[in-house]
Amino acid sequence: MWRLSISVVFLPCIAAFLLTALSSAYGYGDSEATCSGIVPLRYRNDKISITDFGGVGDGRTVNTKAFRAAIYRIQHLRRRGGTVLYIPPGVFLTESFSLTSHMTLFLARGAVIKAVQDTRNWPLIDPLPSYGRGRELPGARYMSFIHGDGLRDVFITGQNGTIDGQGEVWWNMWRSRTLKFTRPNLIEFKNSKEIIISNVIFQNSPFWNIHPVYCSDVVIHHVTILAPQDSPNTDGIDPDSSNNVCIEDSYISTGDDLVAIKSGWDEYGIAFGRPSSNITIRRITGSSPYAGIAIGSETSGGIKNIVAEHISLSNMGVGVNIKTNIGRGGYIKNIKISNVYVENAKYGIKIAGDTGDHPDAFYNPNALPIVKGIHINNVWGVNVQNAGSIQGLKGSPFTGICLSEINLHGSLNSYRTWKCSDVIGTSLKVSPWPCSELRTTSGSYSCSSTF
Ligand SMILES: *[C@@H]1O[C@H](CO)[C@@H](O)[C@H](O)[C@H]1NC(C)=O
Ligand SMILES: *[C@@H]1O[C@H](CO)[C@@H](O)[C@H](O)[C@H]1NC(C)=O
Repeated sequence: MWRLSISVVFLPCIAAFLLTALSSAYGYGDSEATCSGIVPLRYRNDKISITDFGGVGDGRTVNTKAFRAAIYRIQHLRRRGGTVLYIPPGVFLTESFSLTSHMTLFLARGAVIKAVQDTRNWPLIDPLPSYGRGRELPGARYMSFIHGDGLRDVFITGQNGTIDGQGEVWWNMWRSRTLKFTRPNLIEFKNSKEIIISNVIFQNSPFWNIHPVYCSDVVIHHVTILAPQDSPNTDGIDPDSSNNVCIEDSYISTGDDLVAIKSGWDEYGIAFGRPSSNITIRRITGSSPYAGIAIGSETSGGIKNIVAEHISLSNMGVGVNIKTNIGRGGYIKNIKISNVYVENAKYGIKIAGDTGDHPDAFYNPNALPIVKGIHINNVWGVNVQNAGSIQGLKGSPFTGICLSEINLHGSLNSYRTWKCSDVIGTSLKVSPWPCSELRTTSGSYSCSSTF
């Protein structure tokens, strides 16, 4: 009798074990992999609501005092396990505000935190040392709408409430050249760690949407990021001089790159010397007139150990875009991009050494970036106008560029083939055939030998 009960208990376990083993052996593991366990999700006993602090979600009342008072209380009472700041359904208009450590900003379904459109009193903060100045204009920059500096253990989550930057006033100032300083990001975390951003909708950011800079242990998943296709510089997620970042299961449709990994700008980034490393991007869907997965162009602190996989893009400028420039210095190395589907794009793949502007005239034209060990595998493109272009630098050819199993189909009239210069690498099963610089290899082939 006991034999029977043992097998009843253990058989399902063995079956589950076999299934797991089989699925990883056949590579299904990739698409199921997740990094949502990396930052421990803490249960917070202490909960407060923005309405306890006088918050009114009528879309007209300016709630800056309520946000600042609630966060001041979290910061100073320091409840064990941290505190949840609950935002109920309603439209909560506010000026920009800063978060504190050990808190969860929880947006209920139907909750909207909306930026005021009066930009006159918007706080200014110092430029990032790795940029030496604001990204758009010299000097200070506007603080992000929701800001975090030197924090740990912060979550922004909930039931898909919305954080709305009402960016149009800022886009119009950019268009009419009346901006005084660099526009605010929607969310910036600086010098922070153990950050989770999930189940929130971000819309109409004035500038980049989510900017973790000098951060580690950042997980972003199940977010939706929306901005019009013609909104200037509304990048989705820009991990910058940060490590251990994971971005997955998100939809991003904006006016600029969907995900762009950066690490500082020319002589300032070189001097600061903080790389971006160990970044995973997985199961991202979206559209943009610029790039889907971008690396650069600000690469001066170095960018290494990046994995992007299961990316599905439509109506794109460029599917995969690795970009840098002279004066950047730094490096881009050990990049693995696989399982990309791209439909209706100007370019499938573009790797370029001549992209992006300089902070000032003091950049060193001899500071050439090193681009080495880029493995792009399994890309399927439909209606792609230009298959690809890999243009390295004369004094610093891109090496170890390895392309495999890539099919980029054109439309009837516009289709052109690859362009290559100053590049060394290999290719296997790439259609159309890329270029002689990428030595064609045969069956028993391994990219790692080119790293
Ligand atoms: C939020 O939206 C995302 C994307 O549509 C979805 O995957 C997720 O399940 C939603 N989360 C909640 C809590 O409704
Ligand atoms: C890389 O990041 C992942 C999370 O994305 C983490 O689990 C892993 O430990 C990190 N590896 C290193 C070498 O830091």
